[in-house]
Amino acid sequence: MSESPHKLGGPARVKKVLGAMEKHMNNVPGHKRGHARGIAFHGHFTPTPEIGALSTAELFHSGRIDVVVRLSNGGSSPYLADRVDGKRGNPLGMGVRFALPSGDHTSWTALNLAAFPPRTPDDFHAMVVNTRAALPGGSPHPLRMLAFLAPRIPRALPGIKAAATLAPPESFATARFNGFHSYYLVDADGRRQAFRFRFMPVAGVANIDPKDDTLLPPQYVVSEIKQRVEQAPVAWKLVFQLAQEGDEIDDLRVLWPESRPQVVAGEIVIERLHEDSEAVAEWVFDPTRMPPGIELSDDPLLHFRSEAYWESHRRRSRETKPAILPE
Ligand code: HEM
Repeated sequence: MSESPHKLGGPARVKKVLGAMEKHMNNVPGHKRGHARGIAFHGHFTPTPEIGALSTAELFHSGRIDVVVRLSNGGSSPYLADRVDGKRGNPLGMGVRFALPSGDHTSWTALNLAAFPPRTPDDFHAMVVNTRAALPGGSPHPLRMLAFLAPRIPRALPGIKAAATLAPPESFATARFNGFHSYYLVDADGRRQAFRFRFMPVAGVANIDPKDDTLLPPQYVVSEIKQRVEQAPVAWKLVFQLAQEGDEIDDLRVLWPESRPQVVAGEIVIERLHEDSEAVAEWVFDPTRMPPGIELSDDPLLHFRSEAYWESHRRRSRETKPAILPE
């Protein structure tokens, strides 16, 4: 890519994008502009021995470390339903904050979508403005999305298809979460290997039976995971997909073939409810906060997200939340 990823962001774009999310996605004052409803857990991460050879990052060399995991509904409104109907879910998110032995932390975020449609903040803005407005709850309508984006951004098709066919998972514990952006692992000799990550549910992927649509409340995933973790820990494998020569690094829309080598980097286990999910919601899970040993790609959306998340934080910190809390 010839253009600097930072040129595609900047304060004016952040303002434009957050303004659109606030206007069209039913944002509620005091809440995050995305992933407004969530729940946090304490847990741990254990790296595999193999991953240490590929990166000097301390999270791969310190044995078991503590994590806080925030599981969320992707909507700007904390009152958004978990699904549109029995066959179509709204995107869910997973944010992991790894506590590094040095005292610092790194935060990793992922969605249960199979692909992500926009490549730049302007694409994202166009998508929000043109597809969200008409529906209650700020849920994107796949047909409107398709009609708008397909002729303009052909490479967005896998992402549009992913959103249109996203099945509602039985639980956060049975959802696969994809990190989309490319990063680089840097080893002790300075060799760089591009990778993308995913959190694979140890319980396996499982979706609700569409027949249960009428039985389940509109918001159920937060209560479900709370009850599930009370019974037993829940785990995801952290899996890295490694790029090969010629793979698209800076365009998150272009998926790499599944035949690319995969390495299990470790396992994340959540064990108990965090004592204060509201306090964790105050945090920013900044996807650019990586430790030495992991480098950022030039994906423009990755860099923009950091700017947008901190501005979302600034805005919500100045507001008062309404008295009615989400589930
Ligand atoms: C232009 C594209 C995107 C925009 C504008 C956007 C916007 C936002 C905003 C404003 C927040 C709330 C930040 C805060 O107040 O703390 C958020 C949270 C989040 N986003 Fe994005 N996002 C984008 C793409 C993505 C992608 C590609 C992923 C997955 C790789 C993702 C995953 C998440 C997750 C998991 C959270 C919740 C983290 C938490 O629990 O605080 N987002 N997003």
